[in-house]
Amino acid sequence: MSEVAIRLTGITKLFGPQAPQVAAGLRDATRRTALLDRHRSELALVDVDLSVARGSVQVVMGLSGSGKSTLARHINRLIEPTTGAVEVEGTDVLALSPRALLAFRRTHISMVFQRFALLPHRTVIENVAYGLKMAGVPRDERRRRASAWVERVGLDGMEARYPAQLSGGMQQRVGLARALATDAPILIMDEAFSALDPLIRTDMQSLLLDLQKELGRTIVFITHDLDEALRLGDRIAILRDGELVREGTGQDIILDPGSDYVSAFVGDVDHSRWVEIGAIFPATAASGFKVPDGCPTIGHRANLREAARRLSVEGAASAVMVDDAGRPVRIIRLAEISEAMSRPTRLERTTLERQRTGKRGGDTGEDRDSV
Ligand SMILES: Nc1ncnc2c1ncn2[C@@H]1O[C@H](COP(=O)(O)OP(=O)(O)O)[C@@H](O)[C@H]1O
Ligand SMILES: [Mg+2]
Repeated sequence: MSEVAIRLTGITKLFGPQAPQVAAGLRDATRRTALLDRHRSELALVDVDLSVARGSVQVVMGLSGSGKSTLARHINRLIEPTTGAVEVEGTDVLALSPRALLAFRRTHISMVFQRFALLPHRTVIENVAYGLKMAGVPRDERRRRASAWVERVGLDGMEARYPAQLSGGMQQRVGLARALATDAPILIMDEAFSALDPLIRTDMQSLLLDLQKELGRTIVFITHDLDEALRLGDRIAILRDGELVREGTGQDIILDPGSDYVSAFVGDVDHSRWVEIGAIFPATAASGFKVPDGCPTIGHRANLREAARRLSVEGAASAVMVDDAGRPVRIIRLAEISEAMSRPTRLERTTLERQRTGKRGGDTGEDRDSV
């Protein structure tokens, strides 16, 4: 089981003069709705619980003003909660003295911002080395480590340039290199790619995924873009007006949105790219069977689209689905896959049915919210 790197418990954040009294009232179910209505404009987060597994990419998604940045700023205590607890890598962040907090931020957390926030009068290499300087790393080592990161993000040869001489995408590569250079185990990226042109943005997503394969940092990635969320997030948390309305893998959320609000959010997405065949077609042969001659095999983690393509390319009408160990577990027909791709509503219904009655029913039921 993966360990928890960040644990937010019961986080409520109200901005405004009456914050503590209102927060106390929210715990009382009978007063909650009235208080929420009355103080909606000041309420940034309402009783949010979120645990982030070490080494995973946790996306936080929601419309503008839904509380994403406020949530992220709790992790390094740039914002203090009105009520609730914040634990990061086993440290109770709210209990740290001001001095310990500064040291904690420097060693544990780095941030990448939408507006890059580079130092304009410093070169690329100086920007990347800046955090290391703050951390007291000697000059030569700073240079060496910074230049390795500059190279790693694809900015070879740009070391001596100033931010203004770089495109937006390149500037954000500098921002990323600067954040990674400190070796902080946690990386918070607040709409880091949102200001970039679509193609550049996709490049940056690929770069981040590549880096993450090697680095295995714990990343909290904030976005309001669903495609970005699905591409990057091991898990996705959806905020609505400060409430966490759904949390799960992209596939979980697409197959079981749990509320009309989330359904509307994911309604237009091409589910065939994000849903694995194994989630739609359960194993039927527990003890395996012999693969028929000439029949292609497809891993159960292939998404519907990949599976359909494979079969089309091979000119086969069916394939054997195999589990992680390569054992045959089921025959699937191209016709079934096509049907699953083209009929999302039925797909959702059958999957829902199976989740309710099947073995995985318990872990999706509890956070099903009706909004
Ligand atoms: N410093 C602040 N003072 C008062 N209200 C704030 C402050 N910061 C954020 N808010 C309010 O909290 C809500 C959530 O804001 P924010 O976390 O920035 O949302 P997001 O990042 O999802 O766009 C908004 O209604 C916003 O106006
Ligand atoms: Mg924000």
